Amino acid sequence: MRLIRYQPEHQKPMLALHRSAVEEFTLGMSQQQDEADLVTIDEVYLRSRGEFLLGFIGERLVAMGGFKRLSDVVAELRRMRIAHDLQGQGYGTLMLRELERRAFQSGVRTLCLETARRRPLTLEFYRKHGYQETGRSFYGAVETVQFSKTLDEKVCESAA
Ligand SMILES: CC(C)(COP(=O)(O)OP(=O)(O)OC[C@H]1O[C@@H](n2cnc3c(N)ncnc32)[C@H](O)[C@@H]1OP(=O)(O)O)[C@@H](O)C(=O)NCCC(=O)NCCS
Repeated sequence: MRLIRYQPEHQKPMLALHRSAVEEFTLGMSQQQDEADLVTIDEVYLRSRGEFLLGFIGERLVAMGGFKRLSDVVAELRRMRIAHDLQGQGYGTLMLRELERRAFQSGVRTLCLETARRRPLTLEFYRKHGYQETGRSFYGAVETVQFSKTLDEKVCESAA
């Protein structure tokens, strides 16, 4: 998988990948509200000391994910999605490691995230990668679990 930084020309396939990931949820908000950050990636992520990466296999967009800066040392991991038919094959791990590496190198020491509670495999994925549960919340109507991880130089050892 080839990882590259988001560019505006990727907006359409990126939104399609995101929508396929959330289609089974009743979000309790409009598509416009849910996608507010995804139509302003440059502003929300890239020009605000964050990151937003896409993963391609050949010409196909198969992975996405980014982090949004919350302070000098804290960022929120957001919008991690792997295409349904390619989940469980290591691509999420590759994406996560690269985001963690870039976050650490840009000064981030804590990454937090929120994910749907009724996705046991996703919760397991973050636990396996050293994230610890910090609380519960809601994203619109979706019950979520919050996680956080303290980054250290080890995140630079195994990344792409
Ligand atoms: C969570 C996610 C990013 C993980 O990426 P991935 O490429 O599937 O994960 P990896 O292959 O790197 O890691 C596999 C591990 O993650 C977990 N996992 C998470 N989702 C999985 C899936 N669909 N299939 C298999 N394993 C999965 C398992 O614990 C697995 O461990 P194992 O290999 O020891 O069984 C990805 O599955 C995904 O996008 N899921 C949907 C999340 C989503 O749609 N969220 C929207 C609502 S918040």
